[in-house]
Amino acid sequence: MSRFHEEPDPRFWRLNRSIEFDWRLAPYDIDQSRAHARALLEMKVLTKGELATLDSGLEQVGGELERGEFEFEASDEDIHMAIERRLAEIAGPLAGKLHTGRSRNDQVATDVAMVVQSHSLRAIELLRGVMEELLGLADRHRDWAMPGYTHLQRAQPVYLGHHLLAYFWMLGRDVLRFQFALDSAGVMPLGSGALAGVNWEIDRRAVADDLGFEHVTANSIDGASNRDFVLDYLSAASICAMHLSRLGGELVLWSSSEFGFCELGEDFCSGSSIMPQKKNPDSAELLRAKAPRVASSFGAVLGVLHGLPLTYGKDMQEDKEPLFDTVDTIETTLDATQGMLAGISFDRERLEAASGDEMLAATEIADMLVRRGVPFREAHGIVGELVRDALDSDRSLSQLTPEDLARHSELLDETYYELLRRESWLESKRIEGGTSSESLKRQFRLARKTLEAVRARVLDERS
Ligand code: ARG
Repeated sequence: MSRFHEEPDPRFWRLNRSIEFDWRLAPYDIDQSRAHARALLEMKVLTKGELATLDSGLEQVGGELERGEFEFEASDEDIHMAIERRLAEIAGPLAGKLHTGRSRNDQVATDVAMVVQSHSLRAIELLRGVMEELLGLADRHRDWAMPGYTHLQRAQPVYLGHHLLAYFWMLGRDVLRFQFALDSAGVMPLGSGALAGVNWEIDRRAVADDLGFEHVTANSIDGASNRDFVLDYLSAASICAMHLSRLGGELVLWSSSEFGFCELGEDFCSGSSIMPQKKNPDSAELLRAKAPRVASSFGAVLGVLHGLPLTYGKDMQEDKEPLFDTVDTIETTLDATQGMLAGISFDRERLEAASGDEMLAATEIADMLVRRGVPFREAHGIVGELVRDALDSDRSLSQLTPEDLARHSELLDETYYELLRRESWLESKRIEGGTSSESLKRQFRLARKTLEAVRARVLDERS
């Protein structure tokens, strides 16, 4: 029975129906309904006996959904209606009381906020695992020299441990972003009703406590229309996926024969169906390629909300597929990243040979001139000419003679030849955040402390 005389057109039905994807809200919807029912007892809308009937009915529906025994019907528009329909089959007309003081608008917003909370926490847990792996890997390669690049041209030597820790810090910032999403989803919209609030003075804070929300929304209009927490999760995931993509891209390059810096474990590579010699770094390639899909989900939901008048519009149903796709993508990717890193091996000789390129000492020599009073720009020019001299005469920098040097500057003496040894370039970066062993030691201490904080955070949230 309804205001409608006509049945929905099947073409509209297909467009409008969300059950194909929002079934994933089911466990949250059941938890929410059970908490709401308990609040209705306090309001005397339900008697103790009725609450018990509804509660065990909801438990049964939840069990059926979990075990895959729930039979969806063609008339189920979305998961909320499906659960209500099934509850009515079990508990009779009493089921209809459950919707007192609640609208599907605040119901769905609350479910989605619960999804975001639980998966933000999951992302943090997975990030912790990857960070742990990176820290260990960096530690085992803390004194392996390698070339650092700009423009993908060899620039300055660094320690591999230092390079790997760069990823550690990126992921550390991702943790903070997911933490932000977790907090922003921690404000409960339930009680906003359709948009104006409800006619029942439900103890919202008690329900929030029951469901693990930190706060309740202060404004019902905002409560019904807000999906910022979805955007917060998607933007955190977009940036995180971008970081993993850079890692993947680098490992693809490094594992090529041209670089030969590293090899991924066989269990994270595939062979070729036609070329028997091949071992392809598929896992790293997929880390590289997953990022745009996550970013486009962020763009999609942002676009849906853009210009949307307050409060709820069916448009907002479009938040779910991008969200669920991102949850799956980011969790699979993070999990695989940890496994892939655990099996990676580096080639010390190749890395060292590539970092021994004397040209990498150019900045060191310029700095030496600066210490001797030459303005940096001028020193840069002198060394530039030295490099050109060497290249033009097909010699290395150390093959230039003292006479050659004297032609460029009288300040270039024996120290010049000492500076061409790689160790001195690495160990001179003693500044905080630099690559020298001394600075690196400090960096490792900080990284361990950071990881400890992430670990404590996860334990705290889980308790
Ligand atoms: N399936 C809907 C969604 O995802 C549930 C909310 C429906 N609300 C409404 N006023 N029709 O947004």
